Amino acid sequence: MTRRVILTGIKPTGIPHIGNWLGAIRPGLELAQLPETQAVYFIADYHALSSVHDPAELRRMTYDVAATWLALGLDPARTLLYRQSDIPEIFELCWILSCMTTKGWMNKAHAYKAAVDRNREAGEGEDEGVNLGLYTYPILMAADILLFDSNLVPVGRDQIQHLEIARDIAQRVNHVYGPVLTLPEPLVNERVSVVPGLDGRKMSKSYGNVVPLFLPAKQLKKTLNQIVTDSTPPEAPKDPLVSSIFQMYRAVASPEQTLALDQRYRAGIGWGEAKLALFEVLDATLGPARERYNQLMADTAQLDAILADGAARARQIAQQTLGRVRQAIGVGSH
Ligand code: ADP
Ligand code: TRP
Repeated sequence: MTRRVILTGIKPTGIPHIGNWLGAIRPGLELAQLPETQAVYFIADYHALSSVHDPAELRRMTYDVAATWLALGLDPARTLLYRQSDIPEIFELCWILSCMTTKGWMNKAHAYKAAVDRNREAGEGEDEGVNLGLYTYPILMAADILLFDSNLVPVGRDQIQHLEIARDIAQRVNHVYGPVLTLPEPLVNERVSVVPGLDGRKMSKSYGNVVPLFLPAKQLKKTLNQIVTDSTPPEAPKDPLVSSIFQMYRAVASPEQTLALDQRYRAGIGWGEAKLALFEVLDATLGPARERYNQLMADTAQLDAILADGAARARQIAQQTLGRVRQAIGVGSH
């Protein structure tokens, strides 16, 4: 039986936060351990280039993402973990796919549409500041996916449209050349709930309300103290279900710990105490991973070696698929 391929790309555009961990990394680590599965997790550094033009930042974020996944338990021997930029076959396939993609599909892609809307609101020309990398972003993403014959692609809801575009492109190629490409399916984890940030809105780097994953303990405590709470007095009973402190706590603590904190809320708990309970459970859970993360970030040569090994193994698959596509479309020798 061939193993099913689960592939996802992680854009290195922000320090990984607790929302990324609970919403994407933790479920991704579980998927990577399933039997009969080949997990392919890569760092989408060339996707980040459409918005990050600071070389030191791009390099640092790339290491950061790799170190984060490894520190939290990703097994690089079992998984294909690589930098997108280390796989030249992706970019050749991207060109081929571009020649099969209708411009109208790109006009409808939501990242581009959002940029146009912002420009209109600001009274600018609609394509102001839009580079072609942003405009054709979904084609590069389709190449990432289709090159590895991916079956399942775990993504957040905002990426479902890109998966539809990848499927449309694959279908068009298959229609013209016969069955060359595998159609991927999106995998949206319904069980994962949205993690609230410091201000109660969804934790997101675009809102500046994040709790970074690997803050030193002291800073973690300080950051959690910034979670916005109301002015109910400590002794007043509180509803845990409307408290973002409790929601984060529940996502990390054991069922017994969660039940105990639930009872303390209902009996009346001071917000300082609730924040301390959250700090303790986060620090205990993430402490060992934080140490591994710090070690990896201090030894980027080791990270480079792990990523190069992943890329070498990934390229073997990439070359096979690309060879198949080149044959089908009529380039190169017969
Ligand atoms: P951000 O909103 O900080 O820009 P991204 O869009 O880069 O985060 O998200 C990367 C992954 O992390 C996605 O799979 C997304 O669904 C998940 N994720 C991000 N923020 C949260 C959150 N607050 N709760 C749950 N999952 C999240
Ligand atoms: N576009 C995705 C994001 O912004 C990242 C990404 C790039 C990706 N290539 C991919 C995700 C391939 C899944 C599959 O989060």
